[in-house]
Amino acid sequence: MRISVIGLGRLGLVHAAALASLGHTVVGVEANTQRVRKILDGTLEMHEPGLVELVRTALTDGTLDVTGEPSAARGACAHFLTVGTPELAPNEGFDPSYLENALRSLVPSLQPGDLVIGKSTVPPGTAAALAAQLHRESPGAELAWNPEFLAEGTAVRDTLAPHRLIYGVSSLEAARLLDEVYAPILDRGTQRVITDLATAELVKLATNAFLATKISFINTIAQLAATSGADALQTAQLLGADPRIGASHLNPGLGYGGGCLPKDTRGLAHYAQHAGAIEAAQFFTQVDTINAAQRQHIAEWVIAQLSGRQDSQVAILGASFKAETDDIRESPSIALAHALMSAGLRVRIADPVVTASRGEDSRLEFVRTAEEAMREADVTLVATAWPEYRRLNPAALLPMVRRPLIVDTRHCLDSEDWRNASWDYRSMFNLSLH
Ligand code: UGA
Repeated sequence: MRISVIGLGRLGLVHAAALASLGHTVVGVEANTQRVRKILDGTLEMHEPGLVELVRTALTDGTLDVTGEPSAARGACAHFLTVGTPELAPNEGFDPSYLENALRSLVPSLQPGDLVIGKSTVPPGTAAALAAQLHRESPGAELAWNPEFLAEGTAVRDTLAPHRLIYGVSSLEAARLLDEVYAPILDRGTQRVITDLATAELVKLATNAFLATKISFINTIAQLAATSGADALQTAQLLGADPRIGASHLNPGLGYGGGCLPKDTRGLAHYAQHAGAIEAAQFFTQVDTINAAQRQHIAEWVIAQLSGRQDSQVAILGASFKAETDDIRESPSIALAHALMSAGLRVRIADPVVTASRGEDSRLEFVRTAEEAMREADVTLVATAWPEYRRLNPAALLPMVRRPLIVDTRHCLDSEDWRNASWDYRSMFNLSLH
């Protein structure tokens, strides 16, 4: 099938390349010409495991074409909208204008019977408004909503082997067309659910808000563990071992970041507020507040530890919001760095893939390796669970630092190894002052 994908960011490019690998002929349309050039060169702007290979293969095979020209979508019968839905302003809800403009640019290429499929995360009612826009501008085409659940770092795998496919549709023809698109995935027995537009929209937003809630929940429990003498990590593990709860998104630590969980939780709070669901709005706002407090707690602790010492140096290991991505949107690590710098501390931040050009703050010193960041450090904070940090050699690092104090906010190090090598190893929930 010939398919178009409008918007080649972190969601759209993975989707386009994955559909090409399933045997479709895909044209990706992207307004950012520099991004188009990079994709065609096979040098992607983003770090996403397996994606470069998938894109290069599809380009070489001719199953994927990438262009800035919206009219290239003509001739496709399924058109995926994968543009962003950023916040209008903090706590002001989602900006639908990228979706509206993408649809408008697509309309001249549409033919009767074409299906336009939204994949972006939106509040309920967005798809109905876009369907009305489509009905006015191209009456023969139809709109469906097919939310995406891929996570960064595992995006290729998640797209090619999703837990389930959700079709928000207004007709059986639309569902049949989506079945054709996803035939190789459905043939493997993947569950697919047919529902209406609003349910498809809400289930995606609710999924992200639920994952955020789980993280904030376990972080409050971990705080209680710290004050009661209970083991925070074991408590989390035992909670997660209950199949009714599940272990995913139950690791306590620095809290969630990224382009999705924070924005979507605030977006749901905003939506609830406007729907008159005041308790729901307060609930999701509180999830967000608890999340922000995690980094504040640790920043205050570090500042208290270093108070009165001139030229204190902090090493932060990991800049991205989680491992296996170069994405620093709402990264807890960067927020922590800013809080420490505001208190006058010097911060050096290491990341295996994030470089200074991605870090928007020129005062923040970016380095590649943990060793570079830890030179003369008074405190080392592990903020992102990159696998290379698990492999660090604590004995070899000891002579490099001014003070062998390490705080593992992601609980990814072997605490015994570090303690045996004479480090003062602290978990995020064992930070008493002394
Ligand atoms: C999230 C969802 O997991 C995806 O299903 C969804 O499709 C995506 O948003 C999206 O809407 O595009 P992602 O933001 O890539 O995916 O990352 P997650 O793995 O969910 O992690 C989010 C944040 O929570 C990270 O900062 C991570 O470090 C943190 N986290 C995660 C924890 O603090 N504890 C955990 O137990 C798990």
